Amino acid sequence: MSFLGKKVWITGASSGIGAGLARELAAQGAHLLLSARREDELHKVQAECLERHGPIDILIHCAGVSQRALARDTISEVDRAIMEINYFGTVELTRAVLPSMLARKQGQLVVVSSVAGKIGTPLRSSYSASKHALLGYFDCLRAEVYQDGISVTIVCPGYIDTEIGSKAYTGDGGRYGKLEGVLHHGMPVQECARVILRAVARREPEVVVSRAKERTAVYLRRFFPKLLFRLVRTHIPS
Ligand SMILES: NC(=O)c1ccc[n+]([C@@H]2O[C@H](COP(=O)([O-])OP(=O)(O)OC[C@H]3O[C@@H](n4cnc5c(N)ncnc54)[C@H](OP(=O)(O)O)[C@@H]3O)[C@@H](O)[C@H]2O)c1
Repeated sequence: MSFLGKKVWITGASSGIGAGLARELAAQGAHLLLSARREDELHKVQAECLERHGPIDILIHCAGVSQRALARDTISEVDRAIMEINYFGTVELTRAVLPSMLARKQGQLVVVSSVAGKIGTPLRSSYSASKHALLGYFDCLRAEVYQDGISVTIVCPGYIDTEIGSKAYTGDGGRYGKLEGVLHHGMPVQECARVILRAVARREPEVVVSRAKERTAVYLRRFFPKLLFRLVRTHIPS
């Protein structure tokens, strides 16, 4: 599938993976609708891309927020805020856009979950829960809308070089505020965007976008869970 002339709505387009997808899609001739909260940052991305309105061919849910706190130190408001942004926000926007896709018998929903949607690691309990929830919801929806010509692609990135860590919630609702080496040494954003768009073009049901280490972890979680749990306890940096 070519993206030329496709109308694509990207949430979380003001920075990181969403901004990378916008740049890549603009270069491939897509018509873009970009959303996020930071208008000034969106305008910078928009200046490099093209914005048009109309029926949406592809909706890419990229908005999200992370967490850097032990479960025992995380207040309930933070648990709920993460679920609202990452899970319910995605579900509500899908509910709003799906009727027009159903009416046209075409469309593609792309959902950026995470390797954390398959594996739980320290300091990310609610983040990981929200990303697991996306996998569950959109696996169900994929089966429900298949006959209607709509496809669902779930994206599970590993470590990608963005600032998501510094903006992550701490347990008391503050922001973590530190750049993290593990992300900085992760996959560059534009490489990540290209891998995602290849999977979207092929209408893949799911893609893990990461270096080999995180892909191995996903494999271990599935086939050797006890080994993975031991590795997570002893080897994953917190
Ligand atoms: N980087 C990684 O290693 C990694 C790994 C796995 C999954 N992911 C996922 O990839 C997606 C993009 O993350 P990123 O790494 O590119 O981080 P990022 O640069 O922090 O991007 C997050 C985006 O989400 C938007 N956003 C945050 N809170 C929002 C809210 N309450 N309402 C609407 N928009 C909101 C932000 O825009 P505003 O602040 O302007 O609203 C920003 O555009 C997220 O879903 C994240 O969970 C990232």
